Amino acid sequence: MEFVVFQIKTGGTVHMVCRSKERGEEALKDLQEKSGSSNIHLHLVDMSRPKAIKEFVEKFRSNGTPLNVLINNAGVLMSGDKRTLTEDGLETTFATNSLGVHILTSGLIPVLENSEDPRVIIITSGGMLVQKLDLSDLQFEKMTKFDGTMAYSQTKRQEVIMTAMYAKQYPKVHFSTCHPGWADTAGMIYINNE
Ligand SMILES: NC(=O)c1ccc[n+]([C@@H]2O[C@H](COP(=O)([O-])OP(=O)(O)OC[C@H]3O[C@@H](n4cnc5c(N)ncnc54)[C@H](OP(=O)(O)O)[C@@H]3O)[C@@H](O)[C@H]2O)c1
Repeated sequence: MEFVVFQIKTGGTVHMVCRSKERGEEALKDLQEKSGSSNIHLHLVDMSRPKAIKEFVEKFRSNGTPLNVLINNAGVLMSGDKRTLTEDGLETTFATNSLGVHILTSGLIPVLENSEDPRVIIITSGGMLVQKLDLSDLQFEKMTKFDGTMAYSQTKRQEVIMTAMYAKQYPKVHFSTCHPGWADTAGMIYINNE
């Protein structure tokens, strides 16, 4: 949050991509108050819906909006042993953490490449250390019993490998991944309750 506020205070413009109008508007108001700026824009996009992300990317690109830094933060850990599907029939963890990140990032590369010193940061997780990449079961159909934590870890491993591949493919852009530290957030409640 402090990093984003600093960027706005020093003249940056922020585009927030959120799925919930209510929570997005709350975050927008918070950022406006903390930064004293109106250079903050809210876009309602569900990161588990490929079509919605593609539409957002097309609109963003056609508006000619510049982009210097893309931060992929949205992520889910589906609790328990129930494999859930999105409205498009995709497994939710994979759709959000891997496919959504890929569609957004690859779609915005041409915009980033027009900027000076462009950067992409993908928030992954130390949880990836318990999983090797498994390309044979990207949507967790072969797990004898669905395990939300293992699915999360696999998608976080996928993010790190995807990032290394982007770095090779798009040398004009600087790519990084990070583990943000463990924090007691809504997304992690399941782990803490175990
Ligand atoms: N907390 C930790 O200990 C920890 C450790 C390692 C890595 N991480 C990573 O840090 C990142 C942030 O997680 P967090 O811990 O801060 O959890 P969080 O508070 O639950 O934040 C996750 C964010 O992702 C958004 N999101 C989830 N699904 C989405 C979708 N389909 N479309 C758009 N936005 C969506 C959520 O929006 P809503 O408000 O609408 O739910 C929420 O704002 C994640 O990538 C997570 O994997 C966290």
